[in-house]
Amino acid sequence: MTKLKVAVIVGSNRKESINRKLAEGLVDLIPDSIETSFVQIDDLPMYNMDLEANRPDVVNRFTREVAATDAVLFVTPEFNRSIPAVLKNAIDWGSKPVDKNVWNGKVVALTGTSPGAIGTAVGQQHLRQILGILGSLVIGGEAYITFKPDLIEDGKIANESTKAFLQAHIDKFIAIAQKLNTP
Ligand SMILES: Cc1cc2nc3c(=O)[nH]c(=O)nc-3n(C[C@H](O)[C@H](O)[C@H](O)COP(=O)(O)O)c2cc1C
Repeated sequence: MTKLKVAVIVGSNRKESINRKLAEGLVDLIPDSIETSFVQIDDLPMYNMDLEANRPDVVNRFTREVAATDAVLFVTPEFNRSIPAVLKNAIDWGSKPVDKNVWNGKVVALTGTSPGAIGTAVGQQHLRQILGILGSLVIGGEAYITFKPDLIEDGKIANESTKAFLQAHIDKFIAIAQKLNTP
């Protein structure tokens, strides 16, 4: 059986991003039998239809990397009760041209963290809606994580109850992705 390939996309361009830290902790929960890769989005230019005739190399690299995977794990902050512009920009590039929409048919899991009490809940609802329209199969389950400084230690999720909760989310994601990608 070929290895399932999972892209990890972090919706932040901040060096010390708490969502990147969470994403690294989540990758640690994914079995080694699955191929995971972080796909960079913070080098993409602002979407502009004028560039469609000759897409920049970084954009082609981005869409190629996403297209080569079976499933996508989004780990994103919430900005003003929606998703950060850097993530929406990446989604927009990936959605065009329509016949090459890289999100179509992808199994997707969402999560994210913020210091706030509802830890990215509203942002994730917006993301679920956008990806649903683009044909992604966004798995059920809600994983809104309030960030505390002791959440991640040495690249691993240190809080035991949060770890168990996120492990269940990841296991469900991988099981569905495997089922839908088995010929
Ligand atoms: C423009 C802006 C808008 C924000 N809006 C929200 C928000 O709606 N909800 C929330 O929980 N946090 C909000 N925050 C705080 C972020 O959760 C916090 O900055 C977090 O560290 C961002 O994630 P990152 O560290 O992965 O970049 C906002 C931050 C910025 C800069």
